[in-house]
Amino acid sequence: MTLLELVDVTASYGPIQVIDGVSLSVPEGGAVGILGANGAGKTTTLRAISGTVRAGGTIRFAGRDIRGLRPDQVAALGIAHVPEGRGTLGQLSVRENLMVGAYLRKGRQAIAADVDYCLDLFPQLRDRIGSRAAALSGGEQQMLAVGRAFMARPRLLLLDEASLGLAPGTAKTVYEAIRRLRLESGIAMVVVEQNANLAFSLVDTATVLETGRTALTGTTAELKGMDEIRRAYLGG
Ligand SMILES: Nc1ncnc2c1ncn2[C@@H]1O[C@H](COP(=O)(O)OP(=O)(O)OP(=O)(O)O)[C@@H](O)[C@H]1O
Ligand SMILES: [Mg+2]
Repeated sequence: MTLLELVDVTASYGPIQVIDGVSLSVPEGGAVGILGANGAGKTTTLRAISGTVRAGGTIRFAGRDIRGLRPDQVAALGIAHVPEGRGTLGQLSVRENLMVGAYLRKGRQAIAADVDYCLDLFPQLRDRIGSRAAALSGGEQQMLAVGRAFMARPRLLLLDEASLGLAPGTAKTVYEAIRRLRLESGIAMVVVEQNANLAFSLVDTATVLETGRTALTGTTAELKGMDEIRRAYLGG
């Protein structure tokens, strides 16, 4: 069953339209990548889904038209957005950030169990549980941002460049944990990523955006086999 479907989505900042015909489809439990050059509209596409930019076209989630809903309404339906730049709350501790992710939930035991699960997924956070988020390394902040999104127990996770600014080894660790989260939780994902190798380690299919439009969609294997994808995104 299709969980999320975008058909000819457009979006603008004030008078300037920056995406102009983005279509993609995420099955229940599936993971779809969005690739594209800087400025292609990847972040804006995620914002259109989470309701943080005004969008046109069709955005359907779990059979319901969600275009035009407020960000809090979209979140309440089960979509968690890990934004570019992570968006952790610097003055709050790691534990408090995780609890913020769970603010709509009831059931203290289940929430406590999920905090434990986050610390198992990202063991580096265990020692820092009482530290302010602002004092964490970039990699730890990214782990916290993913953990906080998981704490909402979403049906769909929107991930924006989880590898940005991280050393290659750290980026790989973060992606391995997200992959494990996907396998164990079945949460569907839309994964924006400049590093196509990392994206392909996580997703089943991907869409390539060019200047605000869907230019190409294929399975990971199909895309890896295309010369233009290899040249543009896989370094050869
Ligand atoms: N708040 C904003 N106001 C006006 N224009 C914006 C705003 N945010 C982004 N843009 C423009 O919209 C276009 C798409 O930006 P977007 O951030 O979606 O691209 P992106 O694919 O995520 O790029 P990157 O890989 O650099 O993160 C760009 O031309 C950008 O300059
Ligand atoms: Mg971006």
